[in-house]
Amino acid sequence: MRVLVVGGTRFIGRHTVKELLRRDHEVALFHRGQTPNPFGDRVTELLGDRQDRGSVERALEGQRFDGVVDIAYAWSSRTGAREVSHMVDALTPPPERYVYLSSVSVYGDGPLPLREDGRRDPSLGAYSEDKIAAEDYLFEQQKRGRLSVSMVRPPFVYGPWNDIPRETWLWDRILADRPVILPDEGRTLFQWAAARDVAWGLAECLQNPEADGQAFNIAEAEPVTHAEFIDRLARVAGKPVEKLPVSRKRIHELGGSSMGSSMYFGATLDAETDFSVSIEKAQKILGFRPTDPKEGLAEAFRWYLANDRGRMPKFTFDKKVLGR
Ligand SMILES: NC(=O)c1ccc[n+]([C@@H]2O[C@H](COP(=O)([O-])OP(=O)(O)OC[C@H]3O[C@@H](n4cnc5c(N)ncnc54)[C@H](OP(=O)(O)O)[C@@H]3O)[C@@H](O)[C@H]2O)c1
Repeated sequence: MRVLVVGGTRFIGRHTVKELLRRDHEVALFHRGQTPNPFGDRVTELLGDRQDRGSVERALEGQRFDGVVDIAYAWSSRTGAREVSHMVDALTPPPERYVYLSSVSVYGDGPLPLREDGRRDPSLGAYSEDKIAAEDYLFEQQKRGRLSVSMVRPPFVYGPWNDIPRETWLWDRILADRPVILPDEGRTLFQWAAARDVAWGLAECLQNPEADGQAFNIAEAEPVTHAEFIDRLARVAGKPVEKLPVSRKRIHELGGSSMGSSMYFGATLDAETDFSVSIEKAQKILGFRPTDPKEGLAEAFRWYLANDRGRMPKFTFDKKVLGR
């Protein structure tokens, strides 16, 4: 298949391109060119900005694709239905399948584990709103007979090339023999997905006839508590870890935030409410088999050691909270 990847140069996209090449697809990347293409001449590069309809039209003029995997999300300017429509309208003839990387943040609260047919809730913030609007736009194109679409909805994604400070942020503390702050007692449940599994899901949805018009959660089989996750990271690193419970009230009084310099538990990882998703549908329909977390984290840790050290932080906010 000739496949267009929208994005593809940073983290999940990079795993996806690797997976598509492994499956012998011919791959073209559409991105702005602000990050380098890590695949050299194994892929074609089409440069443009998805926020700008004219730019997309110019980059895709005369190009034909059998499949599209749409990954890029522009945080500052937001990527929703309008930006997805720029891609869809510029694709003539339409591809056989348009696979969209959505997120579990489309779900509202509901019985756990959350399932694909559960209630979606756009009131949870701009990101959820954009993902739901993009999904709705694509499902509408499917209904009109214009496109065949599939959605992949992962929770927190980890793995080599992760450019969001999450597992690496926590390993920074473990490797520096620093205590890890546990919001309250660290009992909140959350769920992860290995980047290579998300890549597998996106590539599989392109080709699998059963994926037509469907959304799939792609994640590890089970959720873990915050505390258990820290233990997992420490085991993979072969180090002991001291976990120090601190009340969220105290953390927030001190100015703790989910991102930036006052981060206390890895980017956007903390939540007071439990969260888990079912992967039964992907297992049944796509034959999805999640990576063993031990194996996936070991791979991520090897990458972290080889690529992500030498910028050891000063732990300023940790010291403010813990007094040491
Ligand atoms: N990380 C998670 O835990 C998680 C969980 C669920 C869903 N997701 C989804 O994963 C996606 C992002 O993954 P990633 O960053 O790892 O993907 P990626 O495809 O590896 O990297 C982002 C790509 O988007 C391109 N890009 C950014 N803005 C663009 C624009 N305006 N026009 C064209 N290209 C643009 C970037 O290249 P240039 O900078 O060169 O343009 C880069 O190639 C998002 O859709 C996000 O919602 C992530």
